[in-house]
Amino acid sequence: MYSDITSFIHQLYKSDEFIPLHAPLFIGNEKKYMNECIDTTFVSSVGKFVDRFEEMVADYTGAAKAVVCVSGTNALHMAMMLVGVERDDEVLTQALTFIATCNAISYIGAHPVFIDVDKETLGLSPAAVRRWLEKNAEIKKDVCYNKHTGRRVKACIPMHTFGHPVKLDELVSICDEYHIELVEDAAESIGSFYKGKHTGTFGKVGAISFNGNKTITTGGGGMLLFQDEELSKFAKHLTTQAKVPHRWEFVHDHVGYNYRMPNINAALGCAQMENLDRYVENKRETAQKYKEFFSIHSDITFFTEPTDCYSNYWLNAVLLKDRHAQQEFLQYTNDHGVMTRPVWQLMSRLEMFKGCETDGLENTIWLEERIVNIPSSVRLNR
Ligand SMILES: Cc1ncc(COP(=O)(O)O)c(C=O)c1O
Repeated sequence: MYSDITSFIHQLYKSDEFIPLHAPLFIGNEKKYMNECIDTTFVSSVGKFVDRFEEMVADYTGAAKAVVCVSGTNALHMAMMLVGVERDDEVLTQALTFIATCNAISYIGAHPVFIDVDKETLGLSPAAVRRWLEKNAEIKKDVCYNKHTGRRVKACIPMHTFGHPVKLDELVSICDEYHIELVEDAAESIGSFYKGKHTGTFGKVGAISFNGNKTITTGGGGMLLFQDEELSKFAKHLTTQAKVPHRWEFVHDHVGYNYRMPNINAALGCAQMENLDRYVENKRETAQKYKEFFSIHSDITFFTEPTDCYSNYWLNAVLLKDRHAQQEFLQYTNDHGVMTRPVWQLMSRLEMFKGCETDGLENTIWLEERIVNIPSSVRLNR
């Protein structure tokens, strides 16, 4: 039924084997740098690759400073703390996201409020955020409260779904107007730009992931992006057990975290960063090929980057005509050697978040019934 699609994807990846959704690729200095860590014994939390990796990511993204973490999830947890989210605050986010966005809110004891996404970005909708705030928010002494629950609305976390940037200009101005901190979950969007500026650099803090399935990987890892250097210094302190520098004494001035990425992972990150532009170009070529191919399928829409955006096309997505077609597509492709996947189960349906407030999530539910991700690995080794 979808045999032309599975054969197109096998040809694209020049393989008759099972085609995964996203496999990592190591074609640069990865082994060289990792061997250097082993030869010098600097495999753990001290070593030159940690600083170099932070500088490379800050240069690439245009952030004033970047601070490494052990995962994107810890980076988001840190981001929540750094912008001052506290127990019982509310945080506006999308239900169409990976669980880590909501876990980071929950670690603090705060409550996610699920707002709808835009169909053209798949990410948090500024219009929906504004509608929710107009109905529910009141400002007292420059602090935003939910007038129905009495809780403070402290932060807003949009997520750049599959690497496609959300409408950042509008979100920045709404957050300013309502005194809400903007934190970007840029876990999926290294290499994606909105109006020429890198995602993750619009809010007070941005968080990137280098998990094995991302555009570039450190095995596991994350990075915080800052415009404010003082805040980045505090982040470095908190992620390294809040130890006050001293040659031999153990003095810690906060409850700190062991969130610092080991040098051996950062070595992998430096080598991967050297090829990031090539990877993104190649992923964009793949997206173009998919776009041309799917243009002949009247009942399947290939999702393309939103206006004003340069997307890394981390995970390519198609939209099927309804839930039934989505399930048939998933069944056929997975039975015929091509890995495909529906979008994550909506956060608002998960046991832990069932009781959280939503705005009805009209577009979110529409998209959940139709989205399927298709193979998107970089093809430079083929
Ligand atoms: C949207 C989103 N947020 C956060 C994360 C968490 O990153 P990590 O797996 O590095 O903890 C991921 C990916 O894994 C993600 O896709």
